Amino acid sequence: MTTPKKLYIKTYGCQMNVYDSERMSEALSGEGYVPTDSPDDADMILLNTCHIREKAAEKVYSELGRYKGLKAEKPDLKIGVAGCVAQAEGEEIMRRQPMVDLVVGPQSYHRLPELEAKARSGERALDTDFPEEDKFEHLKSRPKASRGPTAFLTVQEGCDKFCAFCVVPYTRGAEVSRPASRVLDEARDLVERGVREITLLGQNVNAYHGAGTDGDWGLARLIYALADIDGLERIRFTTSHPNDMDDDLIEAHANCSKLMPYLHLPVQAGSDKILKRMNRQHTAESYIKLMERLREARPDLHVSGDFIVGFPEETEEDFQDTLNLIKTVKYGSAFSFKYSPRPGTPAAERPQVPEDEKNDRLQRLQALLSQQQRELQDAMVGREVSVLFEKPGRQAGQMVGKSEYLHAVHVTADGLNPGDLRKVRIINSGPNSLSGVLI
Ligand code: 5AD
Ligand code: SF4
Repeated sequence: MTTPKKLYIKTYGCQMNVYDSERMSEALSGEGYVPTDSPDDADMILLNTCHIREKAAEKVYSELGRYKGLKAEKPDLKIGVAGCVAQAEGEEIMRRQPMVDLVVGPQSYHRLPELEAKARSGERALDTDFPEEDKFEHLKSRPKASRGPTAFLTVQEGCDKFCAFCVVPYTRGAEVSRPASRVLDEARDLVERGVREITLLGQNVNAYHGAGTDGDWGLARLIYALADIDGLERIRFTTSHPNDMDDDLIEAHANCSKLMPYLHLPVQAGSDKILKRMNRQHTAESYIKLMERLREARPDLHVSGDFIVGFPEETEEDFQDTLNLIKTVKYGSAFSFKYSPRPGTPAAERPQVPEDEKNDRLQRLQALLSQQQRELQDAMVGREVSVLFEKPGRQAGQMVGKSEYLHAVHVTADGLNPGDLRKVRIINSGPNSLSGVLI
């Protein structure tokens, strides 16, 4: 028997990259690779990169620099760059970094085995095509390997929205949805392997329109079909654009009990002038109205969002509009960023807001968001939630899981196992998590 080769993957960025890293690992398991947690004993190192914000490429180069010594010691070590930086700057990476053996863009992961073979034979390999064939079809799961209770499942990829700040339409390409039957097969397989909660992923997941048994299905249809799978207890989806939140999907929040009452719906800014400059194609008011409709459908809905401060031409007044929108909507969690000009996107060419103003606004924005988050989390004390337990906590006898609202919840009790779904009474709200007792 040949000894297995070891694969170290370092994943940056979004949950889709996490999913992709799993698929890449599975694709290479067919070539005799087993995963390792340490680059030091790896035969292949893959960086799965993210290009969404600042210094993406620099981070990749500095990470590569750290492997120089390793590569000198082990000439057989192969080093690859995958993900969105690979897609955007693959050729440049090949030119600047002779130690890189292979570059592979997100749409070509199914070709990894061939690229790996090429690299092993001493040639350098680059693939940043947007191929015709369906990569998911060629990226089969390792049969029956057991899984933890939660999993990501990519159902849609790419984006046609072209927000003026965003590289996604360029790095991930046009919107493509996987056929519903494939998604359902993958979901059933995950459930058989122990998964109880699936988060459907897409850059613009609510624009999902995959081939179903009777024509195109929207995301709501897909969610109802997934909810029919015995043993699958929870469904989530991320991330969405407000304009693709159709009536069916809003209703699903009322009608489908397996769809969790937590929604990540980015708005980015609260000023109509800035939203227009961002090419978001909605207004602050239409977003607020949409949130009201969603909360009518599911009154306990927790919402989360993304915000950008310091977008070109954002004034103090525009920024105040963002703060006001946040006060109106009330977010249970949020992600906020300073605008970072991305090469090749329209807004990168415009006059920029000074860095110190960006910093100042980000601080004020985050102060408001953390205060809201705190208040909403503290308000959970005394309430009954359902918790899907995932893993042991730090203290003896403790287990950690997630509430339906995605709060981390700690419980100390005998006989709890990962995968258990239990009712819990919240008794305390800590800095980043809740704790409670079984009911
Ligand atoms: N600068 C800052 N934030 C950005 N995002 C996307 N592109 C940029 C950029 N150029 C943020 C948006 C998006 C999240 C994934 O990242 O808020 O929703
Ligand atoms: Fe980027 Fe999202 Fe806008 Fe698409 S909808 S361009 S992924 S921010």
